[in-house]
Amino acid sequence: MSTLLPPPAEIAKIPVDWVEERSGLISFGKFMLFRNVPKDISWLQTLGSALITVFILQATTGIVLAMYYQPDPDTAWNTIKFITDDATLGWLVRGMHKWGSSVMVVLLFLHMGRTFLFGAYKYPREMTWITGAIIFILVMGMSFTGYLLVFDERAYWATVVGVNINGTAPILGPTLSYILMVGPEISTHTLSRFYALHMLVLPSAIGGLIALHLWLVIRLGVTSPPWSRMQSNEGDV
Ligand code: HEM
Repeated sequence: MSTLLPPPAEIAKIPVDWVEERSGLISFGKFMLFRNVPKDISWLQTLGSALITVFILQATTGIVLAMYYQPDPDTAWNTIKFITDDATLGWLVRGMHKWGSSVMVVLLFLHMGRTFLFGAYKYPREMTWITGAIIFILVMGMSFTGYLLVFDERAYWATVVGVNINGTAPILGPTLSYILMVGPEISTHTLSRFYALHMLVLPSAIGGLIALHLWLVIRLGVTSPPWSRMQSNEGDV
């Protein structure tokens, strides 16, 4: 008996072909995901992908936390307490965000160490290293600005110490401290500024730089280990 319907696999292809024909997004996705890599790469080359995963988790848990958090010195700590004790699975989301930040810093050091020891910062990958170094500084900024948001005694005094350390930098130090605190001391404005930096400015900058970093990785290919006997670093499957 013949049927008029095409097989399910063909039906599933219809929306995919529709998107591809109009945007080219499917072939772009394939170009980004399916590439030749050296034969002798190892788990060490997965640290960058682990970092992307943690960044996405931090962004997702951060969005959930922002749905409850209020950046006001009178209520900030109470909203954190509400998230931890009362909101559904709030303790889990907050815990993931807090521990995820430490995991991200550890992974950053491991990934930087791997790329450094493999000599992957050398020609032609200098820009990959430079974009990575800027991401590193911005991630440190995320840790610093995030710490104050809890607004308990520890967060307050840790930030005072951090801002004072910044203030000791030559020439720009005092101005930087003033800009960070929005005045000579920590106030309501400081909390709003740290919140804006933590929620908007730094994550957007990090996201954009990760995209550039990945584009460079895709364009230049992944470096073989220094002990590799292979001549070429690109396209050796
Ligand atoms: C959120 C931060 C970062 C993300 C998501 C990220 C992501 C990646 C990914 C996916 C790769 C390719 C796979 C791999 O080698 O692991 C890579 C390679 C690379 N990354 Fe990063 N990275 C980050 C931070 C950094 C930092 C801080 C540096 C150095 C300062 C750096 C320098 C490099 C270099 C030089 C390569 C090329 C490695 C090679 O060719 O073998 N990255 N990165």
